[in-house]
Amino acid sequence: MNINWIRKQIPWIKNNKNKIYFDNAATTLKPKCVIDKISYYYTHLGINTHNTDSEFCFKVHEKIEIARKNIAKIINCSPQNICFVSGATEGLTMIAHGLAHHYKKAEILLNDFEHASNLLPWYHEKNHGFFTIKFIDVSKWFDEKRIIEAITKKTKIIALTLTSNVYGNIVNYSQLCAKIKKINKDIIIVLDATQYLAHGWIKQLKNIDFIVCSAHKFFGPFGIGFVYLKSNWIKKMQPLKYGGGMNEIITKKNFHPYNNIQKFEGGTLPLAQIIGWQEAIKFIDKIGIKNIFDYECELKKYFVKKLSTIKNLEIYNSHTPLPIIIFNYKGVNAQDFANWLGTKGIICRSGLSCAKLIKNVLKVDSFVRCSLSIYNTKKEIDYLYKIIKSYKKGDELKKIL
Ligand code: ALA
Repeated sequence: MNINWIRKQIPWIKNNKNKIYFDNAATTLKPKCVIDKISYYYTHLGINTHNTDSEFCFKVHEKIEIARKNIAKIINCSPQNICFVSGATEGLTMIAHGLAHHYKKAEILLNDFEHASNLLPWYHEKNHGFFTIKFIDVSKWFDEKRIIEAITKKTKIIALTLTSNVYGNIVNYSQLCAKIKKINKDIIIVLDATQYLAHGWIKQLKNIDFIVCSAHKFFGPFGIGFVYLKSNWIKKMQPLKYGGGMNEIITKKNFHPYNNIQKFEGGTLPLAQIIGWQEAIKFIDKIGIKNIFDYECELKKYFVKKLSTIKNLEIYNSHTPLPIIIFNYKGVNAQDFANWLGTKGIICRSGLSCAKLIKNVLKVDSFVRCSLSIYNTKKEIDYLYKIIKSYKKGDELKKIL
C-alpha cells in the first residue's frame, strides 16, 4: 500500500502540516476526489432530480441512480433496497419508528457498547408506549455468545453495532445472524455498520433485515448515509418522512406512498453528497478494502506495542483488531490529557464518545480515544509516544490555568 500516495489524496494533510489527525472514528478526512465531485455537482449538474422533463434533468437523475448502484455494492445489495438518509441517526430513527407501528410491545435487545444513535431511537419509542428494552449482559466483555444467551421467546428485535466506535471490535455478523435466525427466524436483525464499513464491506446479507451507515465515517461527505431494507420491509414499513417525492397519489382525503424505496425518501435528497459519496467508495476500491484492513491492524498492533510500554498508561482495548485505542493516563483527567495532546498538535477525542453506557463495562467515566486510518503512519505513533513519554505531572493544566 502506497501511504505517500494516499496522504497526497487528502488535502487536509497538506493544509495542516503540523497536525496529526487521530480522530478518525469521529469522522475520516475527505479525499480530493470526493471534494471535487461535490463541487462538480454544483458547477456542472446543479439541479434537482424530481423533474425528469428535460434530457438534462434525466441525465442528472441517472447519475444519482448510478451513484446509488455504486454505493449499494459495499453491502452487496440491489440499489432498489437502499434509501438515502442523512446518516445512521436518521436511519435508526426511521427503523425504530417504522417497527414500533408493527410490533407495539416487542422486546428489543440492546447492549452497553451501542452508540447513542442505536439507543435513543428505541428509548424514544419505548417512552411513547412501544417496545420493551432488554439489555444483553456484556458487563465483563462484548461476546457474541452473550447475545445468543439473551434471546428468549419474547425477543423480537436485535439491534447491534458491527464495530463499536470506541472499542474497535468486529462482530462476526454472518455467523451471528445465522445463529439468531436458527433460534427464531422471525427475530428482526438491525445492524449499525457505521463504524465497520471503513474497514470491511458486507458480503453476506442473508438473515439481515436492516443495515444503516453514515458516509462521513469512511471518507464520504457529511449529511448522507443509507438504510438497507430487506424487500419485505419496503412494502410493510411506514416511512419517517412525508412530503414530496415519496407519494404516488394525493387526494383531498388521503395519499398513497410509493411502494418502492422512494417511499422512504420524502423531500429533496442531498444530491451533491450522494454523487460525492460514490467517489469515496471508488477511492477505497482503488486501495483495496482488504489492504486497508491489514494496514489498520498493523497500526493497531504497533500502537499497542509501543504505547503499552509507558508505565502510567492504561489501555482498555489492546486486543481488538481495529486501530481505535482508548486509554487513560493514571491520575490525569481524560479531557485535560486530550487537550494537552492537542497543544502538541495531536487531535484525538476524550469522554465516552457518544457510547455513554460503555462506562458500565469499563468502569471509568471517560477516556482518551485515538482512532487511526489509512493515512496515519507509524511515525505519527512514534511522535505520540514521544510526547506522552515527555509528560510531567501538571503539564495538562498549564494551558488551562
Ligand atoms: N460518533 C462519533 C464518534 O465516535 C462522533 O466520535
